[in-house]
Amino acid sequence: MRDIVEELEERRRIARLGGGEKRIEAQHGRGKLTARERLDLLLDPDSFEEIDMFVEHDCQEFGMQDNKVPGDGVVTGWGTVNGRPIYVFAKDFTVFGGSLSRAHSKKINKVQDMALRNGVPIIGILDAGGARIQEGVDALGGYAEVFQRNTLASGVIPQITMIMGPCAGGDVYSPALTDFIFMVRNTSYMFVTGPDVVKTVTNEEVTAEELGGAKVHTSKSSVADGAYDNDVEALTELRRLIDFLPLSNRTGVPERPTFDVRDRVEHSLDTLIPDNPNMPYDMMELVEKVVDEGDFFEIQKDFAKNVITGFGRVEGKTVGFVANQPMTLAGVLDSDASRKAARFVRFCDCFDVPIVTFVDVPGFLPGTAQEYGGLIKHGAKLLFAYAEATVPKVTIITRKAYGGAYDVMASKHLRGDFNYAWPTAEIAVMGAKGAVEIIFRNSTEEEIAAQTAQYEERFLNPFVAAERGYIDEVIQPHNTRRRVARALALLSSKKLDNPWKKHDNIPL
Ligand code: HXC
Repeated sequence: MRDIVEELEERRRIARLGGGEKRIEAQHGRGKLTARERLDLLLDPDSFEEIDMFVEHDCQEFGMQDNKVPGDGVVTGWGTVNGRPIYVFAKDFTVFGGSLSRAHSKKINKVQDMALRNGVPIIGILDAGGARIQEGVDALGGYAEVFQRNTLASGVIPQITMIMGPCAGGDVYSPALTDFIFMVRNTSYMFVTGPDVVKTVTNEEVTAEELGGAKVHTSKSSVADGAYDNDVEALTELRRLIDFLPLSNRTGVPERPTFDVRDRVEHSLDTLIPDNPNMPYDMMELVEKVVDEGDFFEIQKDFAKNVITGFGRVEGKTVGFVANQPMTLAGVLDSDASRKAARFVRFCDCFDVPIVTFVDVPGFLPGTAQEYGGLIKHGAKLLFAYAEATVPKVTIITRKAYGGAYDVMASKHLRGDFNYAWPTAEIAVMGAKGAVEIIFRNSTEEEIAAQTAQYEERFLNPFVAAERGYIDEVIQPHNTRRRVARALALLSSKKLDNPWKKHDNIPL
């Protein structure tokens, strides 16, 4: 008996070494942690339970029958983050470059199936060279089995990917099917084909960083939702994000104790809006003053900065925030901002996360660049997302709500539950000058000035909308947190169903 116990420990020791000391050293030399070190940081101490530690590949080609490593390049299992369960798989770059074989994919599939069945989120940590070249079509099939499960789990359990090394081919398409992707600056890359293939096919010379580094994917392509300086920071922030998320679409949002009171009055908000309507101000100040303890997790911070998206809590419960940001492009809605906000709204709706929307939007961005780029279709994505959402929706117009953008930003007409406006709100088809120049095209300058003043007086306020019931109440800025908190508490029992359908046809 003792021998068997010792043998088990010896087998475990070998498996835990992965590709061996030298490759672990090389991994550290590149500024990266190993798969197991990453799991240690992500999960609560002693909570990790490994599954399939001794699985090996069965490839018989290229001498692979004599080259086997227990675990086959991916560490799988489950553990807890602040006491709440999650499933994990972490690719081990020290074993065949973390590449995916048939056996490796079956290990991932097993935890994917368990996570879906049990209604628990799944986190993938990727640092891998794509399909195991020696396995050929078995590896391709293996990827497709992962993709299929990613797709079926979408909207049922949160799926998050950490890109923590080079990722190519199949190792970028699985992440793209998950809810959030985070990268590490200078050590992680994502591309369908690497710089060498790019050179051969298109003759472009490009570095891995320029082609698919964290900066490209968080600020240009919007493939990734955030980037961090190193593995430790990335995994610590991931723990913070997980604390905001429901376990599945059946559980509702998590609740945490908070010392922040519902009635916290913020007098500074009464002077947030500048006297000059064309002056910007920082909408983030409002977000941070409304959420519990100023704790806000921003999603896609470096992309389409004209709209803010992210998670906060109100009275201990998770809320999704969408807010126009007047500091960038006056908070206008363009294609990028519309796509970014639409995806976020849909995540919230999938997982029963209530949505609070702060509106200060001068409209959709005009111009050929936007129209040729499909602004109509991208803008429609946001419209569609808000219109189909059945979660509680609380909207506050702080200043401008002009034109189609007024409709889109969770207006009453899109089943907004509580639609409030600050006294500084301007709800109109467009700004005064533009409106008057169209209506009074052939008038003198004096007449236009007089008409502009009249238009401002009549329309650039919240009261016309309030008279019609499109705004439920004009509120004092300093009471915004209290209003939002009371509305959300009331709406916790909201029930609203959309007509039955197989699925919708959102304009993609
Ligand atoms: C088998 C692989 C491998 C792979 C790396 N290795 N990629 N083994 N299959 N795909 C092994 C190497 O042989 C090496 O083994 C170890 O991993 C580390 O690799 P290095 O090249 O030494 O490391 P580095 O210089 O850091 O480069 C990492 C890399 C590079 C950028 C990932 O290895 C690379 O370009 N790999 C191939 C990427 C690729 O084209 N994959 C196929 C994509 S197509 P030793 O024993 O020396 O430690 C695909 C199809 C699916 O994925 C598509 C579905 C839609």
